[in-house]
Amino acid sequence: MSLADVAYLPETPAHDPEIDALNEEAFGPGRFTRAAYRIREGGPHDRSLSFVAVKGGAVIASVRMTPIAAGKGRSLMLGPLAVRPAHKNLGIGRRLVAMALAAAAAAGWASVLLVGDEPYYGPLGFSKIPYGQLSMPRPVDLNRLLIHEIVPGATANLTGEVMHVAQAR
Ligand SMILES: CC(C)(COP(=O)(O)OP(=O)(O)OC[C@H]1O[C@@H](n2cnc3c(N)ncnc32)[C@H](O)[C@@H]1OP(=O)(O)O)[C@@H](O)C(=O)NCCC(=O)NCCS
Repeated sequence: MSLADVAYLPETPAHDPEIDALNEEAFGPGRFTRAAYRIREGGPHDRSLSFVAVKGGAVIASVRMTPIAAGKGRSLMLGPLAVRPAHKNLGIGRRLVAMALAAAAAAGWASVLLVGDEPYYGPLGFSKIPYGQLSMPRPVDLNRLLIHEIVPGATANLTGEVMHVAQAR
């Protein structure tokens, strides 16, 4: 496959069914029990910061961004990120993460957090959040709770339980 055939587009509602199928394929039914899913259940993701990769009219990868609150702090949660198996290891995941981070920075956000593999996300600018600073609505391996600071020091503004911003008082 040529990467020249892949278009990167802002997500629209028309992409929803294909994104659901992509996430089912990537994460299976167990995705509904994950801490990040529990947070995303609390309200909508931000389509203006969410992107798809499309080839031949079909969605082959997706990244979503959801506004979250932790104490008085506000941030974004990146995910799910999924690439169709036939298109893995071509840089599509990395490209979508970079697009989401650039869009977050352009929109004035100070940080982006996620639950994911540090060996993958570390080179993309994410690092571990100090243990004990944040809690999640379901158990997570704290080694997988990662943050990318757009504004240096922004992590310090996030404390306590992470929830969808719509759930915050
Ligand atoms: C993880 C995923 C999004 C990566 O997307 P991708 O487009 O295949 O990845 P990229 O092409 O950007 O990067 C590929 C590189 O990342 C590495 N990589 C992929 N998944 C990794 C992981 N979980 N941990 C560490 N490295 C990983 C590959 O080995 C490859 O390394 P190389 O460049 O040294 O060869 C994709 O494999 C996927 O959809 N997986 C299933 C869903 C998932 O796990 N999503 C992430 C949730 S945290």
